Amino acid sequence: MNKFFSVEDAQNPEALVTEALQLKANPRAFEHLGKNKSICLIFFNPSLRTRLSTQRAGELLGMNVTVFNIGKEGWQLEFADGVVMNGDKAEHIKDAARVIGAYFDIIGIRSFPSLADREKDYTEEVINAFYQYAGVPIVNMESATLHPLQSLADLITIREHQGVIERPKVVLTWAPHPRALPQSVGNSFAQWMNRADVELVITNPEGYDLAPEFAGDAYVTHDQKEAFEGADFIYAKNWSSYEQYGQILSQDSRWTVDAEKMALTNNGKFMHCLPVRRNVIVADEVIDSENSLIIDQAVNRVTAAHIVLKKMLEVQG
Ligand code: CP
Repeated sequence: MNKFFSVEDAQNPEALVTEALQLKANPRAFEHLGKNKSICLIFFNPSLRTRLSTQRAGELLGMNVTVFNIGKEGWQLEFADGVVMNGDKAEHIKDAARVIGAYFDIIGIRSFPSLADREKDYTEEVINAFYQYAGVPIVNMESATLHPLQSLADLITIREHQGVIERPKVVLTWAPHPRALPQSVGNSFAQWMNRADVELVITNPEGYDLAPEFAGDAYVTHDQKEAFEGADFIYAKNWSSYEQYGQILSQDSRWTVDAEKMALTNNGKFMHCLPVRRNVIVADEVIDSENSLIIDQAVNRVTAAHIVLKKMLEVQG
């Protein structure tokens, strides 16, 4: 594996989950693999879980890990070709990426979308530029449109908790939030679930449908209660509108996940990637219940990064 941008790079997502669970059971088994290897985790935006879990995963493989908060501590980067750089951008991505690629064996990138220009955001300019110029494997630690390490952790969590249910009903539900958030977690979760052996339902208010390329074959309904009926897993997340790009069209608290709605499910498990706005996205009574998997998901972020970095190191030899 020389890049991990989306489910497409996983080739066989279910096989990757099986291998990840084996690694989780024996986390020190490959600590020799990353000896004398280094990874740079580059953050244009804030993070708690992604930063710490990817760092832990690198350490479990014996790697040297550097975290670079480029958004706060680095030079402002120019991404356009052929421009006269006499403005506020001090360094071109061509130069920055080549330098970082010369220092490190693997690079992780977190770069959120502008939410102002849909066409530009959906070209994934930042992560693609690093891939083009750095010359080393690149891990998507949440890009403009996708968050594959989160989705892999989520699929691992579902497989750990589905018990005897062969093909669980998994519901991705929009929930309200006071700020405009990217579509990346919702897009990515839908993309991975479309490749997994689950029944995927997406529910959101009108105007919040995800991009068709990511919603894929999911059944989409604007009736949240209909979606919750008989569900085995409820995955809550806010996203801003894709259609009216980056806009907040609703903050309707009737979409908050509460115990009354969870009662419609098949004793469903509650999932959220965190960070979460309690009693806005989800009521305390749900997120603090025994059916809440939020900590399991966060723990599996280490497992997801662990298996992805292992695959990259194996290719490098
Ligand atoms: N879920 C997730 O990516 O968390 P952070 O933004 O804290 O990394």
